[in-house]
Amino acid sequence: METRQATEADHADTAPIHAELKRRYAAVAQQPAGQFPYPTGRASALHLGYRQDKLDLLPPDVVEHFVGVGNPFLLGEPQPGWTVLDIGCGAGFDSQVAARYVGPGGHVIGVDLSPEMLAVARQGASAAGLTNVEFRQGEAEQLPVEAGWADLVISNGVLNLAACKGSAFREVSRVLKPGGRFQAVDLILVGELPPELANSEFAWSN
Ligand SMILES: C[S@@+](CC[C@H](N)C(=O)[O-])C[C@H]1O[C@@H](n2cnc3c(N)ncnc32)[C@H](O)[C@@H]1O
Repeated sequence: METRQATEADHADTAPIHAELKRRYAAVAQQPAGQFPYPTGRASALHLGYRQDKLDLLPPDVVEHFVGVGNPFLLGEPQPGWTVLDIGCGAGFDSQVAARYVGPGGHVIGVDLSPEMLAVARQGASAAGLTNVEFRQGEAEQLPVEAGWADLVISNGVLNLAACKGSAFREVSRVLKPGGRFQAVDLILVGELPPELANSEFAWSN
């Protein structure tokens, strides 16, 4: 993957989109059900092939707040001792699943721009008694994680929302160890958007 430093220009127009995403996900944190045009919560996770033995260990509130679009662990299961970064972790569903794969010798960092989603994530990790997972507020375009830290970067339903996708992919490359893995699942645009949608900050997050 080619890399270069993100420039100020890359970040210049992300603020209005990030503000709209924060507004949107404050509402999702309060009430996740019925907010998306696709299934969410436990039924969705089972349908997407998450292992029931892992799901059964998760606090119900974290499972209820699962609003992902796929299952990054179908691309490979994290190994004990690994360091895993979950970009756009939301309420921490995939972070908690990863924490159980990597065990006490591993570590998981979940990053999200929404303080409200992170509050649900922190409460969930505490309810589960997990000590190998932490949550940091930050942006996919400028990750609050040191270079070369992660064995595995996962992301579920987030990069389609990134206001600057070039910066987001460069950041993935920066934080991965040499030979590390990137397992993302997402929605993909297959046609042209009409200008009224393409230029709407509201549409970006809905
Ligand atoms: C569709 S939700 C998916 C949440 C979680 N991955 C899951 O599977 O339940 C998208 C999440 O990405 C976060 N997000 C969106 N854009 C982001 C960005 N640029 N940087 C960090 N987080 C972002 C939102 O706050 C939200 O929690």
